[in-house]
Amino acid sequence: MPQPGRPPVRSVFGSLVLIAVVVGGGAAAFAYTAGWFSPRRLTPDKLVDAFTPSTGEPLGHRRNHAKGICFTGMFEANGAGSTLSHAQVFARGQYPVLGRFNLGTPDPNAPDATVRVRGMGLRISTPDGQEWRSAMIDPPFFPVSTPQAFYELLIASASKDPNAMKTFAGAHPEIAAFGAWAKSAPWTGSYAEERFNSLNSFVFADSSGTETTVRWSLLPAAQPVSVSPDDLAKRGPDFLEQEIAERVRGGPLRWTMVVTVANPGDPTADPSKAWPEGRRAIEVGTLTVRRIQAERDGPCRDINFDPTVLPSGIRTSDDPFPAARSAAYAKSFDRRTAEAKDYPRTATDAKP
Ligand code: HEM
Repeated sequence: MPQPGRPPVRSVFGSLVLIAVVVGGGAAAFAYTAGWFSPRRLTPDKLVDAFTPSTGEPLGHRRNHAKGICFTGMFEANGAGSTLSHAQVFARGQYPVLGRFNLGTPDPNAPDATVRVRGMGLRISTPDGQEWRSAMIDPPFFPVSTPQAFYELLIASASKDPNAMKTFAGAHPEIAAFGAWAKSAPWTGSYAEERFNSLNSFVFADSSGTETTVRWSLLPAAQPVSVSPDDLAKRGPDFLEQEIAERVRGGPLRWTMVVTVANPGDPTADPSKAWPEGRRAIEVGTLTVRRIQAERDGPCRDINFDPTVLPSGIRTSDDPFPAARSAAYAKSFDRRTAEAKDYPRTATDAKP
C-alpha cells in the first residue's frame, strides 16, 4: 500500500522516465530539425547561407531579392475567379495591396542593369481577415526542378572550380532552357513593363470543394519596350526605382491577373517546366499600383512574402518549392529583422 502523501517508488521512477523521454525526445527533434543527424540534408540555414555574395552577408536586408522598392495599391477582383476558388479575394470587389518590386540578387547595391531576374512580392488582404501572399518573377520558368537542385546551383555558381557550372549543368539539364531565356529574352526599362509569374503550382478549391491546380501571372498594361543592357547601364545603377516612382507620379499602373489551369498530366510539381500553350486561362482581376515608397522606411520592409501564406480556397500543391521557400524566407526574415541596426530607418515615424 502506498503511504498517504508519498508517491509510490514506481510512480516516481515512472515520472523520471517520462521526463527523460520528453526532454530527450525534444532534444532529438531539435537535433533532427537542425540537421545534426544528417549533415547532408538540406536545411533552411544552408539554403540561406548559399546566397551569401562575395561582398559578404547583406546585413539588415533580404538574403535574396535584396534590392527593392515598396508599393501600395488595390486588387480589383472581377468575380470570375470565384468559379475556381471560394477565397474572398476572388469575389467581385476591391482589396488593399502591399507589394515590393525587386531584383533577383543577394546584393542590395547591385546595379540594376546587371540583374537578369526581376520580381514582385504581393500581399492582398480581404475583409475576412485573410491574406494571399505571393512572390513572383519575370522568367517563364524556374532554372531548376527541385529545391535541392537550386541549392546545388547556388553552390556551383559561387564555386572557384572553373568546371563547377559545367558539372552542374550535366547533372541538371533543365538549366539549359533558363540559360537560353536569360540570353535571348528582351530587357525592359521598367518594372511596369514586366510580366510576373507564380511559376509554382497551387490548388484552388471552389465552394463545393472541387479542386483545380493552377499557376498565375500578372500581365502588364504597359507595352514592353526592349532596351539593351548596355543602354540600361547608362541610365544609372538605380534607374528602375527612379523610373517606377516617376511613372506612378504620372498615374496608377495596372496589371491583369490571369489564372492558368493545369490539364491532367501537366508537370505541377516542377516549376522549370512551363505548361504547354492552350491551357484554360481566366482573367480574375486587376492590380493597380498607386503609390511607391523607398524600402528603408516603407511598409514592405518588414514583410515576408511567404508563398505559403494563403487564404482558405487556395492551398499548396505537390510542388515542393513553396514549403522550401517558406522555411528559407523565415530564416532570412529572422536574420534581417535582428540586424535592423545595420539598415537604419531614416524616419522614426515611418514604421508601418
Ligand atoms: C528553394 C527555392 C528558393 C529559395 C531558397 C529562395 C530564397 C529566397 C529568400 C531567402 C528570399 C528573401 C526572403 C525575405 O527575407 O523576405 C527570397 C525572396 C524572393 N523570392 Fe525566392 N527563393 C526560392 C524560390 C523562388 C521562386 C520559385 C520564386 C518565384 C517564382 C522566388 C521569388 C522571390 C521573390 C520575388 C522574392 C522577393 C520577395 C520580397 O519582395 O520580399 N523565389 N527568396
